[in-house]
Amino acid sequence: MMPDHARRKQRLAVGLMSGTSLDAVDAALVAISGAGDKIRVCRVAFVTMPYPAAVRRRLLSVARGEPVAAGEISQLNFLLGALFADAAIAVCRRAQVKPEKLFVVGSHGQTIYHQGVTTTESGRRICSTLQIAEPAVIAERTRAPVVADFRAADLAADGQGAPLVPLVDYLLLRDPRESVVALNLGGIANVTVIPADASAGDVIGFDTGPGNMVMDGLVRRFTHGRRSYDPGGSWASRGKLLEDVLSKALSFPFFRLRPPKTAGREQFGDAFLQKYFLSRPATFHDLLCTANELTARTVVDAIRRRVRSKGSIGRIVVSGGGARNRYLIDRIASLSPETPLKLSDEFGFPSQEKEAIAFAILADRTMHGLSGNLPRVTGARRSVVLGKVVRS
Ligand SMILES: Nc1ncnc2c1ncn2[C@@H]1O[C@H](COP(=O)(O)OP(=O)(O)O)[C@@H](O)[C@H]1O
Ligand SMILES: [Mg+2]
Repeated sequence: MMPDHARRKQRLAVGLMSGTSLDAVDAALVAISGAGDKIRVCRVAFVTMPYPAAVRRRLLSVARGEPVAAGEISQLNFLLGALFADAAIAVCRRAQVKPEKLFVVGSHGQTIYHQGVTTTESGRRICSTLQIAEPAVIAERTRAPVVADFRAADLAADGQGAPLVPLVDYLLLRDPRESVVALNLGGIANVTVIPADASAGDVIGFDTGPGNMVMDGLVRRFTHGRRSYDPGGSWASRGKLLEDVLSKALSFPFFRLRPPKTAGREQFGDAFLQKYFLSRPATFHDLLCTANELTARTVVDAIRRRVRSKGSIGRIVVSGGGARNRYLIDRIASLSPETPLKLSDEFGFPSQEKEAIAFAILADRTMHGLSGNLPRVTGARRSVVLGKVVRS
């Protein structure tokens, strides 16, 4: 039992996250104590609130780059603000915590566009990103301070704005004796590499390519939208690998880029599916099996290429919805037999919750004036305090 004075020093924070899968708003409530690199984080409660089908369809249409009016984005921004606020209030209710007692809510929002690579617009070199879910609505409903829009400050400092979870992986998972790779399998897959006894500046992290996105795209297409993922990877496990499709997909230039690199629906959405998977007839199960293998191979190759050259890895710690895809986990484990694969649950952070927890921690850092990006990871010029604060 924790002494009273220690408990009093705890700060309650909620993290709100929805990733590129556009599946649900995840809300994690944590208790944070300590400061800077020495924080301790305890999971308190979690809820996930699936997007209503109609909202998901509208978001997908925007994220696919279909032409939409500014009014649609404005309306979605406030609608998502309400849905994110619902999730924050629901997780507080689950833990019987009054939302106004929260030290902070960190809301990642929903990415509807992300361009981490510089383009030239009217003679200026520009990168841009846009997350929606109006934080003023979340602050008004919870009466707690809200930090949102985490990626913009990193982009303004010439970073790619992503990934931002590597600093949190370092805070939560570092080990003085072993190097650790944190692998998150969301719509996109990304890795954080934390050498043994690392300081934050030693950490590297980047997107490896698709996590569930290509598989989910196939499922939605072949089930005419009735299902959105392959439960446990059971359909993929019944298919056979299409070597020609896989080797063509592996030639996609993103896989050869050196970090820093980030990906999204812009790279691995419908256009990728059409070009690499649907350009010749094949069965649903075979295509799913091949998409599953594409994720497993590109994850393991990326770890091999960028990490193993720097020494052995103590463990790979997996999180994200893809951790529930047993077939994918089995494939990654068998392609990487020398390294134990563990779920983040073993370290106190359930795999479905870790990304939402990360944004609670990043918001807590912002409230303390601490930086949240790692320049080596995002390519930014310097470390910066992330996010915009709405005071309640
Ligand atoms: N039981 C399951 N079996 C297989 N895949 C699953 C399962 N549950 C969730 N997923 C996958 O996880 C995805 C959601 O993962 P998540 O970590 O929320 O990703 P994101 O951060 O992109 O939102 C789903 O779209 C689906 O592909
Ligand atoms: Mg999700």
